[in-house]
Amino acid sequence: SDAVAPEADGTGVRRRDFINIAAVSAAGVGGLVTLIPLVSQMAPSKDVLAESTTELDISAIEPGQAIKAVFRKQPVFVRNLTQKEMDEADAVPLSRLRDPETLEERTKEGHRNILVTMGVCTHLGCVPLGAGEGENRGEFGGYFCPCHGSSYDTAARIRKGPAPSNLVVPDYEFTSDTTILIG
Ligand code: FES
Repeated sequence: SDAVAPEADGTGVRRRDFINIAAVSAAGVGGLVTLIPLVSQMAPSKDVLAESTTELDISAIEPGQAIKAVFRKQPVFVRNLTQKEMDEADAVPLSRLRDPETLEERTKEGHRNILVTMGVCTHLGCVPLGAGEGENRGEFGGYFCPCHGSSYDTAARIRKGPAPSNLVVPDYEFTSDTTILIG
């Protein structure tokens, strides 16, 4: 009858509300859990050049190496790509990328080998591995986020895992051939 239908609907709505609340709570717990790896990975290490350095001397970064720096209290990775790593990035068709960008678009003219990105996973903000010596770079050779397994390639583009987009390239410029100014 007419009297029963609205009540049945009402119950359905309440159940859906409960499910939505449960989903939000679970997300909240997930957010708390991810804070722990984020904080522990952001602890200062010998790779960190200075707390708020924005001008970096990059002359000591050998091809194939990367360094971690800090910009506005967030980690920044600066990587000197080998020819092989550049070739690997160039070989990937844009149609295969979740967030299509060429290596060229992510670097500065005349400095294609220097890749500057924020060291902040675009999923939930953990610090990916791969900039420190001997760290796991993941299956695409760039950076690997241990929190939920996002893998970035040699151009720091997202290739696998939950992260929606590439590691962010901050605003920066070359102030000399061996110095960059971030911000
Ligand atoms: Fe989830 Fe990086 S924070 S994969």
